[in-house]
Amino acid sequence: MKDFKGRVAIITGAAYGFGNEFVKQAAKRGMKIVAVDIMGDKLQEVGPMAMELGAEDVTLITADVGIYEETERVVKTTLEKYGQIDLLMNNAGIAIPGDGINLPLRDWDWIVQTNLMSHVYFMRQVIPVMKAQGTHCNIMNTCSVAGVINFVGMVPYYTVKHAAVALAESTNYELQAMGADIAMGVFCPGYVQTNLDHSEEYRPARFRDDSDPYYQSEEFFKGQAAAKYVIETGAPNDIYGDLVFKAIEEDEFYVLPHVMYDGILKIQTGEKVQRKTPNIHELQAMIAAAKAAK
Ligand SMILES: NC(=O)c1ccc[n+]([C@@H]2O[C@H](COP(=O)([O-])OP(=O)(O)OC[C@H]3O[C@@H](n4cnc5c(N)ncnc54)[C@H](O)[C@@H]3O)[C@@H](O)[C@H]2O)c1
Repeated sequence: MKDFKGRVAIITGAAYGFGNEFVKQAAKRGMKIVAVDIMGDKLQEVGPMAMELGAEDVTLITADVGIYEETERVVKTTLEKYGQIDLLMNNAGIAIPGDGINLPLRDWDWIVQTNLMSHVYFMRQVIPVMKAQGTHCNIMNTCSVAGVINFVGMVPYYTVKHAAVALAESTNYELQAMGADIAMGVFCPGYVQTNLDHSEEYRPARFRDDSDPYYQSEEFFKGQAAAKYVIETGAPNDIYGDLVFKAIEEDEFYVLPHVMYDGILKIQTGEKVQRKTPNIHELQAMIAAAKAAK
């Protein structure tokens, strides 16, 4: 999409982090913005900020993107108000650390619904709208470098992010095969300083069970501390909004800004081609050797 002015963007996860930066970029480009988030109070700050930066109009919708009916409300409101959808940014997400084995099943449901099914829900409704419009449109899904490589420490997160990348890759093929004028993309960053380590604050009531001993376990608190460490020591979040919008401008599919993960990506792709069993000890040794050689 070359011309953003006056066009309509749905941006999920707009209250904090990347989503907030995407709203700023859409506003600077004069778009009509539908900003969506589960954190309704924080979302209220987004409206005046976007108008000040140049948005043509802003609509704020408090919604849980993991519930289909709530995504329906977002799409319906957008169409009633603006009559079109030109850019969909599926960005809302959470992080659940841990090896996944002891994780309560409700947490698997939480991360699958929030980080994956939300993409399905919105794309299922928005793609037919975009196709009927006949104008060039974009869909940019925030995935993660965890969607293209694997490592220890976050099994549910890697699993769901890989599925989100596969959803975008296979949908991209479908869109191309049917001749739809919709450019898909995946934003796959490494660790960046956002609010992601506060994901517990976004937990919807249907996934809460304070009586479950897991949430008082050492494993749970260790996971929370690890998430806090990697996010707080991540890259500053001041360039990614512009970087992603430039990628949308160029219809780029893979937005993979952190080249330091390319080594692991190559190793793990090579293992598949060679039918080689992945080995964490070998991988850790190779990473340590690469670091030492720098
Ligand atoms: N920060 C990183 O290091 C990093 C790296 C790779 C990928 N990501 C991905 O980036 C995306 C955005 O995360 P972020 O890092 O900006 O974190 P963040 O916590 O700052 O922002 C996430 C936003 O999503 C919203 N949200 C969470 N659950 C929701 C729900 N059910 N319905 C609606 N809104 C909901 C939150 O309220 C918040 O505003 C996520 O998909 C995350 O997995 C982040």
